[in-house]
Amino acid sequence: MKIAVPKERRPGEARVAATPDSVKRLRALGLEVVVEAGAGADSAYPDAAYAEAGATIAADEAAALAEADIVLKVQRPLSATEGGPDEVALMREGAVLIGILAPLQNRAQMGDYAARRLSAFAMELLPRITRAQSMDVLSSQANLAGYKAVVDSASEFGRAFPMMMTAAGTVAPARVMIMGVGVAGLQAIATARRLGAVVSATDVRPATKEQVESLGASFVAVEDEEFKQAQTAAGYAKEMSEGYRQKQAALIAETIKKQDIVICTALIPGRKAPVLVSEEMVKSMKPGSVIVDLAVEAGGNCALSEPGQVAVKHGVKLVGHLNMPSRIAVDASALYARNLLAFIGLIVDKKDGTLKIDMDDEIIKGTLLTKDGAVVHPSLAAATA
Ligand code: NAI
Repeated sequence: MKIAVPKERRPGEARVAATPDSVKRLRALGLEVVVEAGAGADSAYPDAAYAEAGATIAADEAAALAEADIVLKVQRPLSATEGGPDEVALMREGAVLIGILAPLQNRAQMGDYAARRLSAFAMELLPRITRAQSMDVLSSQANLAGYKAVVDSASEFGRAFPMMMTAAGTVAPARVMIMGVGVAGLQAIATARRLGAVVSATDVRPATKEQVESLGASFVAVEDEEFKQAQTAAGYAKEMSEGYRQKQAALIAETIKKQDIVICTALIPGRKAPVLVSEEMVKSMKPGSVIVDLAVEAGGNCALSEPGQVAVKHGVKLVGHLNMPSRIAVDASALYARNLLAFIGLIVDKKDGTLKIDMDDEIIKGTLLTKDGAVVHPSLAAATA
């Protein structure tokens, strides 16, 4: 069976879906791997390293995809209307496509996959069960994004993070607040602490309180009855009531005035991100403060952050980088590639190296979008009706 790894073509995407290390492991499973020339260049994985790991290097994308049984992508393929190659049309009919395919935001593309009879898997829909942890691309990428957000904030900040007592005087430690304590937020807390900042954090899920405190940060939240019920069975946050949001805003307004840096990571699956930092709150911060808004792609946690921009408003630097994992592409690619490798282990029969998709498997049911010419994912049912 042949696996193809094309170069990512969407703007600002430096990651790649396989690394020389993952290629070596795919080869050990008895799979052939074809890598498009230059696919790993932006992640510092040269063609020669892939070749050494046992991959064939294809001159262009068409050659890489033509005979592939499985296509590994980071982002969803370009479609005919977007300019550039129609990547779906380049894939072999009936091939398996695996990537972060954003199906809910791009329902029309499901028809393209079905027309090509692709078995398309969206890795971000993976159920967050213990067995799937090694395949969890949201976690692997969010962890690095949380780290990078803090490092970015440090480089935009005109002061130091740790307290320093020197002969010339004492430098006060930076005060960092983390909004949203999921995977990215936890890593942001740990990173800011390692750099020596005084860290506080807020979340609406009660389970986060202990996690925050165990990392040496202080927990700031309105801990009322609604807060006690704010976690869904799937472990995500609920959208909070207007009353709660007002109480939360008042508490955050008090806290934020004293912060130097705010790292925003709060998300609600399938919804716009909650706005937690208003213009008034930005105004209340000291000049030279920094806000990094990791939620900017989902509308932003800060009312003033702009997608893809670093802007100064009311003396505060607002960092709205898109695609944070791509800013740390070498590690992000390496972890992503390992996630895909684990997933391939689920759909390829280890004995004879053939494709074996178990339609009763919870992980398959959670991620499979299209199969045999039809849209099959339950959450896309409306698109097929
Ligand atoms: P996410 O990216 O959906 O959201 C980030 C954080 O924002 C969450 O902690 C959420 O509670 C918080 N948030 C939402 N609205 C907020 C508001 N109004 N104010 C403050 N904070 C708000 O979350 P992520 O990182 O995907 O993690 C979600 C959960 O899944 C966590 O409980 C995590 O531990 C769990 N998880 C479980 C895994 C497993 O295999 N069992 C793997 C990875 C995560």
